[in-house]
Amino acid sequence: MISYGKQTINQSDIDAVIGVLKGDWLTQGPAVETFENNLKNYFGAKHACAVANGTAALHLTGMALSWKPGDIVITTPITFLATANCIVYADATPDFVDIDPVTYTISPNHLEEKVKTYQLQGKKVKAVIGVDYAGYPCDWKALREIADKYDFQLVNDNCHALGSTYNSDKQYAVKYADVVTQSYHPVKHITTGEGGAVLTNNSDLDGKVRRLRSHGMTKNPNLLENNDGPWYYEMHEMGYNYRITDFQCALGSSQLKKLGQFVQKRREIAKKYNKSFSNGDKLIIPETHSSIEHAYHLYPLQIDFKKLSLTKAQFFKKMKEVDIKLKVHFIPVHFQPFYQKNYGFNTGDFPVSESFYRNEISLPIYPDLTTDDVSSVINNILEIISG
Ligand SMILES: Cc1ncc(COP(=O)(O)O)c(C=O)c1O
Repeated sequence: MISYGKQTINQSDIDAVIGVLKGDWLTQGPAVETFENNLKNYFGAKHACAVANGTAALHLTGMALSWKPGDIVITTPITFLATANCIVYADATPDFVDIDPVTYTISPNHLEEKVKTYQLQGKKVKAVIGVDYAGYPCDWKALREIADKYDFQLVNDNCHALGSTYNSDKQYAVKYADVVTQSYHPVKHITTGEGGAVLTNNSDLDGKVRRLRSHGMTKNPNLLENNDGPWYYEMHEMGYNYRITDFQCALGSSQLKKLGQFVQKRREIAKKYNKSFSNGDKLIIPETHSSIEHAYHLYPLQIDFKKLSLTKAQFFKKMKEVDIKLKVHFIPVHFQPFYQKNYGFNTGDFPVSESFYRNEISLPIYPDLTTDDVSSVINNILEIISG
């Protein structure tokens, strides 16, 4: 069965993990700091705090940015649940802005309209989480300008875009967003099993994230109210155990060395898909742009099922019959019963996201996908659509 995503592990990764397993520290040891330093160097961030997963990174981001009940935090419907859920964790109020029909990322024009509408009601937007969906960066320049104009916090849920470039810059994320979150789940560009990180250039935010990662504890003499001795620690705010282990971080450092080649492989596969699916009026391939290098965490292909005499479910079934397991990214978050019941969202609220959802399928894409596998995906899709 060909799946849509999968990790790539080689002997050097295995050796790196075994090296830690044979050492003194399984957790809270030096491999964590080494991984954090490697992340800082790669992504050009002053600070990087590695955590248990991408969802924990988002949760801690909301806490570090002091989101409170009543604060309005906006994201896009075309994202994984975690991006919106982190707003709810803070008891803040989630809202959405529709995607741009070409880039599939949050539309800056619709965002500014929404922020203005809130302003007219005497309400202020606290934060916006842009999602570099599938590996295509948001229009960060526009988002930064709007954030500065209306004074809100800007977060980049960068989980899909490791290795992408924006205006030829692979270190773009921390330059535009106040906080950047990443995930190292096995289907992502690099993996630590479960894992994630919070990257920022702001030392106060990093300090908060670090304390909250470990129960809100601090041993920093500058922050202590008392100091009974070298064993002493204090807790000033509620935190969690969102730590990541040393053997995961050793894997992360080993994987990060190969990020460039992993992304290159993904681009080569995407190039073949682009070439095969760019003709005809039933398919729309993901956008390519001269100032952006897509990282292709996903390859979202849009199919006009109305023009085929097939439903999306039938299409999935046909592909499964030839051992190709497709996925859909994502069911718009405002379709979820939780968000409809608790926040009053309805079908029809975000039409571009909804039409994208109806059409989108995610094709298999990962470095170890063989040339034969790619040809099989292409041939089977072309056969079905010529149907
Ligand atoms: C856009 C986005 N944000 C956040 C997450 C959460 O990451 P994790 O699974 O590491 O918690 C994911 C995971 O799929 C994601 O796709």
